[in-house]
Amino acid sequence: MTESAPHQSEPFQSEANQSEASASALTQPAPDQPRTELIDRFGRRITYVRMSVTDRCDLRCVYCMAEDMTFLPRARVLTLEEIARLGRCFSELGVHKIRITGGEPLVRRNVVWLFEQLGALPGIRDLTLTTNGTQLPRFAGALRDAGVTRINISLDSLRPERFKAITRLGELDKTLTGIEAARATGFRRIKLNSVVLKNRNHDEVCDLVQFALERGIDISFIEEMPLGIIGDHDRAEAYYSSDDIRADLSQRFDLIPSAETTGGPSRYWNVAGTDTRVGFISPHSHNFCGDCNRVRVTAEGRLLLCLGQEHSTDLRRALRANPTDDDRVKDVLHQSMAIKPRGHDFDLREQPVIFRHMNATGG
Ligand code: GTP
Ligand code: 5AD
Ligand code: SF4
Repeated sequence: MTESAPHQSEPFQSEANQSEASASALTQPAPDQPRTELIDRFGRRITYVRMSVTDRCDLRCVYCMAEDMTFLPRARVLTLEEIARLGRCFSELGVHKIRITGGEPLVRRNVVWLFEQLGALPGIRDLTLTTNGTQLPRFAGALRDAGVTRINISLDSLRPERFKAITRLGELDKTLTGIEAARATGFRRIKLNSVVLKNRNHDEVCDLVQFALERGIDISFIEEMPLGIIGDHDRAEAYYSSDDIRADLSQRFDLIPSAETTGGPSRYWNVAGTDTRVGFISPHSHNFCGDCNRVRVTAEGRLLLCLGQEHSTDLRRALRANPTDDDRVKDVLHQSMAIKPRGHDFDLREQPVIFRHMNATGG
């Protein structure tokens, strides 16, 4: 979402439900109800929160951003203290997994302080990070010391010229050095994320799995999602399904279905005789909304109840209106459960109905 493109923030502002949810929570006295777990009207328990700490990034991946992006002005972005406070509120409501996302989280100044605060919360069992890897040589040790348990690193190609074309600004070597820094630091698990685009990198899926195997790390293949207008390619033409990828992989690897889960949407297969898991995130071909256990907070403090819908609540307003009263903020979180939709309705043939880009959303 950008300052100079107001149409992109319109759907948030005009979303009727969100303003009802946040406004009533701010104006009514705190009810005497116990502040227990977050459960939506479909009975799904929210235990996982993804928080975007910045919409900025040192790359411009073609599926994520348009080439010419304008980023949020600082005053609209939550402060690190506000994000830490939200993390505390969520953890007191039964959330035990927090993933920090961006943009690129590690380009935010003093972000290690935030990890330290979140890592010290007693309820948080899994503190995780999604990154493009370029800053890991600098930060990997501090992140581990702060309590980060797992890291997901985006890597779509092992060929320098392709990597550059997909990320527009990236250098493959920098990301590879970041992956090595993370491995040397000893996180519990490292996972690569590859967004697969037909005729762009779909012929590299076996090489990417081989790369992961040789390093004892996991990899997930992701079907591209239609978030924001990107102007680079036709998303329907670039669609390459998880089933196609698995068929390609089975020519070279013996994949055994696994019941393991990280609490995310990936369905995993083990590569026989190795520790490597191959995951598939398939919002188009295998909808996983029925098991949804998560919500997201955008960099500007909007609680998004679903990645593929606009239902949202203005947490920045709730935080700033109640600077010392966490119970009020928790009430807003509870009330927001009433507007969590059943699921997304992504359709690659339509122009995006979701105008926000992935970098504003946090993936
Ligand atoms: P772990 O399972 O904890 O390893 O994380 P993850 O794979 O869920 O997180 P990551 O940040 O690595 O995201 C990988 C991809 O999954 C991104 O493209 C996300 O947008 C996508 N994703 C994560 N959660 C959801 C979801 O609720 N709905 C959809 N449609 N996509 C999601
Ligand atoms: N569709 C699917 N995945 C995306 N990502 C970014 N934009 C998209 C999109 N439009 C992925 C990145 C990163 C994760 C957070 O989201 O590759 O791994
Ligand atoms: Fe940056 Fe990640 Fe978006 Fe690529 S996908 S531009 S690395 S935020």
